[in-house]
Amino acid sequence: MPMSPRVRKFALTAHITFSVGWFGAVAVFLALALAGLTSQNAQLVQAAYVAMALSAWFVIVPASFGAFSTGLIQSLGTQWGLFKHYWVVVKLLLTVIATGLLLLHMEPVSYLAEIASQITPSGTEFRSIQLQLVGDASAALFVLGATIAISVYKPWGLTPYGIRKQQAQAEMRNEKSAKRSQGFYILIGLLVLGVLIAIIHLLGGGLGNH
Ligand code: HEM
Repeated sequence: MPMSPRVRKFALTAHITFSVGWFGAVAVFLALALAGLTSQNAQLVQAAYVAMALSAWFVIVPASFGAFSTGLIQSLGTQWGLFKHYWVVVKLLLTVIATGLLLLHMEPVSYLAEIASQITPSGTEFRSIQLQLVGDASAALFVLGATIAISVYKPWGLTPYGIRKQQAQAEMRNEKSAKRSQGFYILIGLLVLGVLIAIIHLLGGGLGNH
C-alpha cells in the first residue's frame, strides 16, 4: 500500500538513521578491534573488548534489525516494491547475509569481552579471535559501504517481475483511458443526433408552424 508523502519521509528518515548508523557503529567497532589487537596498554586492550561487546549488542545488532525492517517498509510502501528493482533485491540479500553473519559472530565478541573483564587477552591463544574480529569488521564495513552506494545510485534497472508489473500497469492505464474516450464519443454522438433531429424537425415542419 503506498504511503502518504509525509509518512514516507518519516519512514525514510528512520531507515537512513538505522542503516547508515549501522555503518558508523561498525567503523567504531573496527577501531576498537584494531586497538585491542595492536595496543601495548593492557588496560586499553581490556576496555576495548568490553566496549566492543557493548556496542555490538546494544547498537550494531539493533541497527541491523532496524535497517532491515525499515527497508522492508520503504520497499512495500513505495513504488520501488521488494522484487521489482535489482538494486532493492541486492540490498535485501546483502542485509540478510550481513545480519546472519553478524549474529553468528557475536559469540567470539562476547567471549573476548568476558575474558577481558578479568584478564588482558594476549598471546597466541587469543590471537586468531582478535584477528578474526578485525577481518569481520573490515568485511562488514565494505559491504555496508557498498549497500549505501547502491541505495544512492539505484543501478541495474527492473527485474523480469518488475517489467511484467510495469506492463500490466500500462495496459490497465490504456484500458481506462480507452473506456473514458469511449464514453466521450458516445456523448458527442448523442449531442450530434439531438442537433440533427432538431434541424430535421425544424426543416420538415417548416419554420412557419412555430
Ligand atoms: C545495510 C542496509 C541498508 C542500507 C545501508 C540502506 C541505505 C539506504 C539509503 C542511504 C537510502 C536513501 C537513498 C535515497 O533516498 O536516495 C535507502 C533507501 C531505500 N532503501 Fe535502504 N538500506 C539498507 C537496507 C535496505 C533493505 C533491506 C531494503 C529492502 C528490503 C531497503 C530498501 C530501500 C528502499 C526501497 C529505499 C528507497 C526509499 C524511498 O525512496 O522512499 N534498504 N536505503
